[in-house]
Amino acid sequence: MIKKVSKCPEGLNGEITIPSDKSLSHRAVMFSALANGTSVIKNFSSGQDPLSTLNLFKQLGINAEYKDSETLIITSSGKLSAPKTNLDCGNSGTTMRLVSGILASQNFNSVLSGDESLSKRPMKRIIEPLALMGAKIESTENHAPLKIFGSKLHPISYISKLASAQVKSCVLLAGLNTDGITCYTEPYLSRNHTEIMLKYMGANIRTDGLTVSVTKSSLEPKEITICGDISSAAYFIAAGLVVPNSDIIIKNVGLNPTRNGIIEVVKQMGGNLEILDEKTVSGEQVGDVRVKSSELKSCKISGELIPKLIDEIPVIAVLATQADGDTIIKDAKDLRNKESDRIATTVKELQKLGANIEELDDGFIIHGKTTLTGGVEVETYNDHRLAMSLFVVGLICEKEIAINGFEWVNISFPTFEECFDKLM
Ligand code: S3P
Repeated sequence: MIKKVSKCPEGLNGEITIPSDKSLSHRAVMFSALANGTSVIKNFSSGQDPLSTLNLFKQLGINAEYKDSETLIITSSGKLSAPKTNLDCGNSGTTMRLVSGILASQNFNSVLSGDESLSKRPMKRIIEPLALMGAKIESTENHAPLKIFGSKLHPISYISKLASAQVKSCVLLAGLNTDGITCYTEPYLSRNHTEIMLKYMGANIRTDGLTVSVTKSSLEPKEITICGDISSAAYFIAAGLVVPNSDIIIKNVGLNPTRNGIIEVVKQMGGNLEILDEKTVSGEQVGDVRVKSSELKSCKISGELIPKLIDEIPVIAVLATQADGDTIIKDAKDLRNKESDRIATTVKELQKLGANIEELDDGFIIHGKTTLTGGVEVETYNDHRLAMSLFVVGLICEKEIAINGFEWVNISFPTFEECFDKLM
């Protein structure tokens, strides 16, 4: 689908409620499936990725029913049953990597498959630690499909070179069904939703700095209320800052400190951003974010900040085109392993629109501020985050742009356009 986007001189104004967090929606289904009893998930995401997780767990024997459009009731015995067919993870890396940790210790075999993009993404990062725990996984050169031969696993102490919440969660979930203490240490803190939600559901889990340890635990069914996704809010934060005459409030945004790097960056860039009505919901920090059109200055983003904003980097690159000076983003090589090679695709598409952006092996340098010309067709490379970032640039280009493959927004944010329409 081609989406045409043009300049928005009147600005963005008003209030929107951001839809449910994708990372939390996946985890809520997975952990409820491992709990014996009935769990209630409020504000479950309607994105295709969390739905892939839900469908997969139905194939593993759980019962799931919607009480209303956003409330999901999951009933499980806490034990999974052997699937009759391959388990399709669709486009979702979180599904494949986390579920591998759960399936590796079951008393049945299973096959995890994915779409074309997911089948190209690296799985060695989870196969390696799981193999150290005694898991038996067959693949072609560490790519999906993954054939998982359920086995009894043993605990490990693992020091990871990657700050990846998917790898961390995979190992912790395997450790949950293993006798002894499984420890996982990461180089920088990645999102800690798994730790928070497992603790909330009664697991024996402890965090000590960069190390998390877990022992065999039974999970209790719970009511889990999922907050809005800061990664989805990021497009509105960016648009509110760069579109002239804007003043918007984005309600119910998850502000977990391991995910809120974009807030830190906007403050460094001198953006007009305020957090209102902060509270804690199901163990997670939540608040409303108000942004107004701002004069921005460049900043440097690297090291431990990267995992806190990894999914927001393409839209931060858009912000940087409107900031005075050179914005440097480094230490983000793993962006090349996302739904698209987000370093190459962001650089290529922003250059087409007139941005002054240079590709680095592990990030980019953006020379701002530039007037973006637009007037061309751009590609999404089947990547939802690129599609949404390009929409934001479209709002400030001199001439209309056409975004090819815009339907990929449905992976995480089916109501993306509707939310923007409310503010125009
Ligand atoms: C996610 C972790 C991140 C992120 C992804 C969701 C999660 O991936 O990019 O969109 O829910 O755990 P990595 O763990 O590979 O960095």
